[in-house]
Amino acid sequence: MTPLNFDGDVVIVTGAGGGLGRSYALDLARRGARVVVNDLGGSAAGDGADASPAAQVVDVIRAEGGEAVANFDSVATQEGGKAIVQAALDAWGRVDGVICNAGILRDRSFAKLDFNDARAVVDVHLWGGINVSQPAFVAMKDNPNGGRIVLTTSASGLLGNFGQTAYGAAKMGLVGLMRSLRIEGERSGIKVNALAPIAGTRLTNNVSDDPSAPKAPDKVAPIATLLAHRDCPANGDIFMAGAGWFSRCFIGLTEGWSMPDNVTAESLLANWDKVTDETGFQQPTSVIEVSEILNRLLEPR
Ligand code: NAI
Repeated sequence: MTPLNFDGDVVIVTGAGGGLGRSYALDLARRGARVVVNDLGGSAAGDGADASPAAQVVDVIRAEGGEAVANFDSVATQEGGKAIVQAALDAWGRVDGVICNAGILRDRSFAKLDFNDARAVVDVHLWGGINVSQPAFVAMKDNPNGGRIVLTTSASGLLGNFGQTAYGAAKMGLVGLMRSLRIEGERSGIKVNALAPIAGTRLTNNVSDDPSAPKAPDKVAPIATLLAHRDCPANGDIFMAGAGWFSRCFIGLTEGWSMPDNVTAESLLANWDKVTDETGFQQPTSVIEVSEILNRLLEPR
């Protein structure tokens, strides 16, 4: 197998002071990437700040002979996002990849939602993804070989979880960002994908220092590395990964049922099994393909 080297590519990893981001940053650096290790260093709920987690990861990378710079800005603001990308430009004059990974948790049932907490969660996850990937995307457009953007989603966003309405909304919002950004990036060779990791970290209250533990973050790192690499085989996809398991998650449309004239709620109910039947489901890749499906149904027979 040909090794996947980064040959000095510059990759930004947000939230790389611990957990999954740390594993991603270390794997990338060991493969020759020059890494911006971003981390605000707050608590799992996003309170406080501490420069030491990012600085320590940079120390490890440098001790191993790799190249890295630390950055302590918050992904939650536009200025922070700009500063994170600027750190890469200042250090090495380019950006080839970005893994938007920083995250916090403030779970609460929807009935008892604390709007300030919900806003903080959306600010870090959804706005964090936009704040960092937007200036990174602009910088990547100047690269002859484009770039790679990896957005971190979650099974909670894709599938749902009690107490995670705001978190889930933000995580699914990142899928929406990814789907459209991959269309805008195509001409410049920029590939954008979303990753839903599963790992023992402080967010899952399952921290283990053993890199061979069943759910160690290191077992997710290979797909983050692959999605950030210039040989990335995917664009516009969603992947789930944990414990050395890798799977593609996709959005499908049933073939459905149509009655262009005189449709009523009653006729719809009578045909509900056809609306929901998954036989022959489709995977349209854009809104244009959905329009084409609809136009075909409207063609006179
Ligand atoms: P973690 O808490 O170990 O890592 C998150 C890092 O992000 C922390 O080091 C934290 O300081 C940093 N961070 C938080 N807010 C920041 C901000 N405003 N600016 C910059 N850095 C900030 O948690 P973990 O599990 O490694 O999470 C990484 C990502 O994976 C998150 O986006 C999380 O939502 C996602 N995820 C994790 C899952 C898991 O099973 N661990 C499951 C699904 C998604």
